[in-house]
Amino acid sequence: MVLSQKLASAFNEQVNAEMWSSNLYLSMAVHFKKVGLNGFAHWMEKQAEEEMDHARKMIDYAIDRGGDITIGQVNVVPTAWGSVTEVFEHVYKHECYVSELIDKMVGIAKEDKDYASEDFLYGFVREQVEEEATAKTIVDQLKNYGECHVGILDHRLGKRD
Ligand code: FEO
Repeated sequence: MVLSQKLASAFNEQVNAEMWSSNLYLSMAVHFKKVGLNGFAHWMEKQAEEEMDHARKMIDYAIDRGGDITIGQVNVVPTAWGSVTEVFEHVYKHECYVSELIDKMVGIAKEDKDYASEDFLYGFVREQVEEEATAKTIVDQLKNYGECHVGILDHRLGKRD
């Protein structure tokens, strides 16, 4: 089954959104490097790599299913960031937004009765549950233990594989 035009467009848009997400996290990594929080910077770089990986997986899948993928311009990401807690709150909100985008794609696949795409996208639905939970946990820790916890957390997140 070939992707419908609507779903192929959604894949194109999502590839762009994943690339934008990758740049967003790179921007956060740069910010953390500048203030000497190298553990957080490392975590953000890994996050950026993961987002590019999501884009690549979607490109491969869409092409395998006859979709026409084009790599478009990626909008500029924010470059000014506040406290560590504010940055991670932004990560959490952004991941919730990405979850909504993925859910919309599942909706299109369902309308199309495109079960293969539905199945493929459920991998991302599950991934988003994890992404939201990870970001939420970091926000909760920062809020509950205060920013004095930052050094410990910076050390711990610096160990992300
Ligand atoms: Fe590709 Fe963080 O969602």
